[in-house]
Amino acid sequence: MLFELREVGLDRGGRAVLDSFSVAIPEGATAIVGPSGAGKSTLLRLLNRLADPDRGEIFYRGRPLGDYEPLALRREVSLVPQLPALLEGTVESNLRYAAELAGEELDVEETLARAGLDPSFAGRDVAKLSVGEQQRAMLARALAQRPAVLLLDEPTSALDHAARDAVEATLARLRRESDLSLVLVSHDPEQARRLGDRVVEMPA
Ligand SMILES: Nc1ncnc2c1ncn2[C@@H]1O[C@H](COP(=O)(O)OP(=O)(O)OP(=O)(O)O)[C@@H](O)[C@H]1O
Ligand SMILES: [Mg+2]
Repeated sequence: MLFELREVGLDRGGRAVLDSFSVAIPEGATAIVGPSGAGKSTLLRLLNRLADPDRGEIFYRGRPLGDYEPLALRREVSLVPQLPALLEGTVESNLRYAAELAGEELDVEETLARAGLDPSFAGRDVAKLSVGEQQRAMLARALAQRPAVLLLDEPTSALDHAARDAVEATLARLRRESDLSLVLVSHDPEQARRLGDRVVEMPA
């Protein structure tokens, strides 16, 4: 099993964001759906230890998540957050930084292509990208770390239909061409069915 959550609880601001939440997430593609505020982003942050649960247990590949060193874990389990957060500079400098952190060689063109961006994006200033372009640059940055698991938080929320279709095609291709696993949050049940081998519904 890729991830297993047993009776997980997490409190924020004096109330439970997650309460006795249990789910098993196998390898492959799992889509997480649920209403706004259900705790979907919080769940993804738990999976690469950007947050730790207050109650219950989380396992990654059969080992307690707490046994993994957070930085090492994040190189293997990479989060593409809901809101783009690139470092100042070019797309290429962002990819280089990520690859260096992960100790991976970087092929800029190949990485851009895997995220559905053409090579001209390498030299683009991230401050001058549209939000949709930033989302794809964030995906490229995550891929530069050659993760085993990608956590995607609403990866197409800022995109029009054409760009959304392109990102969905990219994700489908990534899955065909590598043994990358995806855990994907979507507010769109149709997208969840298109991209997920299975769909997990989070209660409100
Ligand atoms: N640091 C915090 N302090 C207080 N409340 C928080 C904090 N972080 C998250 N929350 C609350 O936890 C709940 C779950 O937040 P989360 O971002 O996980 O929801 P979500 O399912 O991703 O929602 P959306 O679909 O809007 O992105 C929300 O009610 C949110 O207000
Ligand atoms: Mg969210």
